[in-house]
Amino acid sequence: MAETTQATGAGLPRGFRSAEQGWPELHRIPHPPRRVPLLGDVLGADRRRPLQDSMRYGRELGPIFRRRAFGKEFVFVWGAPLVADLADESRFAKHVGLGVANLRPLAGDGLFTAYNHEPNWQLAHDVLAPGFSREAMEGYHGMMLAVAGRLTDHWDRQLAAGRTVDVPGDMTRLTLETIARTGFGHDFGSFERHRLHPFVTAMVGTLTYAQRLNSVPGPLAPLLLRTAARRNAADTAYLDRTVDELVAARRRSGGGDGDLLDRMLATAHPVTGERLSAENVRKQVITFLVAGHETTSGALSFALYYLARHPEVAARARAEVDRVWGDTPLPGYDRIARLRYVRRVLDESLRLWPTAPAFAREARQDTVLAGEHPMRRGAWALVLTPLLHREPEVWGEDAERFDPDRFTAAAVRARPPHTFKPFGTGARACIGRQFALHEATLVLGLLLRRYELHADPGYRLAVGERLTLMPEGLRLRLERRQRPVSTPGDDDARLRRVGATGPDRATDV
Ligand code: HEM
Repeated sequence: MAETTQATGAGLPRGFRSAEQGWPELHRIPHPPRRVPLLGDVLGADRRRPLQDSMRYGRELGPIFRRRAFGKEFVFVWGAPLVADLADESRFAKHVGLGVANLRPLAGDGLFTAYNHEPNWQLAHDVLAPGFSREAMEGYHGMMLAVAGRLTDHWDRQLAAGRTVDVPGDMTRLTLETIARTGFGHDFGSFERHRLHPFVTAMVGTLTYAQRLNSVPGPLAPLLLRTAARRNAADTAYLDRTVDELVAARRRSGGGDGDLLDRMLATAHPVTGERLSAENVRKQVITFLVAGHETTSGALSFALYYLARHPEVAARARAEVDRVWGDTPLPGYDRIARLRYVRRVLDESLRLWPTAPAFAREARQDTVLAGEHPMRRGAWALVLTPLLHREPEVWGEDAERFDPDRFTAAAVRARPPHTFKPFGTGARACIGRQFALHEATLVLGLLLRRYELHADPGYRLAVGERLTLMPEGLRLRLERRQRPVSTPGDDDARLRRVGATGPDRATDV
């Protein structure tokens, strides 16, 4: 698979490839009706929410459609048979375009933004993949629990002070600390700060800028976005500096405990013996610090939103946590995957709001998409995951309804393949999938066991976009659950201590 992946992209024209170059029968693909000469499909477009705009168009125009903005034309796909065809790795591969390509100045040939033909993709993939093995995950578990303990400490303080909690902010604190600690032995001190860490502010700045670049005419971007570009340069410099300091500290200390950073700095490729260059390490650290927390924080936030809105689901999930974890203060590694219903809640949240909501695919050779739409080599389309996940033919007429039972084993088996794609597809699918699922299930379990969650009845879900998705302004009121056995004080203290030692296996029976 790796060899064919490397073969794509080489020799294709660099830069943006507009749809008319690659789709000989583009005229057969519908577009919004009120197209303005030169400007394109801009009437009524919401530049702050391009994804939700595209969802609206998709519902009107059908499973494949196109949009034009300032001379650039894009093809969007969400119909299940079309997406399944795009998932065929022998004919299609990841396309680095639009928002992902806009992140190249920040993340370069790091894993997420590397072009398929760049040798550093395969090298970094092979060197870093063992960092996501089962053994590696088991090693992270104790640290994940310890960071979760900092979250519950923080929430207990908010509760004692009679305050509601800031869900997206606190999930961001949690997931940033988790990836920083497990991957890089670093502590950003997020829970000790009133505001989010400047690393997060700079990261959100660069993601938002990458998204905005898509909605302005290319040649005019330097003029229209002058101030934003200056801020973006400062944000990028700040992220680079933070990462350089982190790497320098590790080099001085002479090695960690075999975490991701150690792998990046010291591990040679098992076959070729090659190592990552210093510049590439910088790009990988930024990539993992960003990709490793931003989407998981959104996934947890949406799941908490749905749990608060569906008390019957929360009660069922809580009953499962009580049954599977019992009174064990610190659930062991194996206890997390056994929270089957909690995991279904997470999957269902990722179905409705996959927090990395699109991925792009390009043709490796001239081909015909789903036997209907000819594509030249290099032609590409953007898969709109939230619409794929709501396709009535697959998910039923009630596809908009939140129902975790769509993910029972039998229901999953009954669905066609490639209809649930929150982690992308193929060789370039998410390397951190298991990491994210383990962390998020663990945290949801701990929160459900400890608190009743109440949403403000007046809150209406507003989905913010910065390439990734996040429920905006979501706050929850907490109520401490009365648990029958075990003294909460013991439990709290152990949760904080555990990071150093890992969970106490003796209690994990
Ligand atoms: C719920 C959480 C997450 C979601 C929804 C998610 C989603 C995705 C998606 C859709 C892709 C493919 C993008 C494309 O095709 O262009 C991807 C790739 C990637 N993700 Fe994640 N991700 C999550 C968590 C994580 C975590 C925790 C890490 C690291 C610890 C991570 C690291 C990466 C990397 C490095 C890639 C690029 C892989 C490659 O191209 O070889 N992600 N992710």
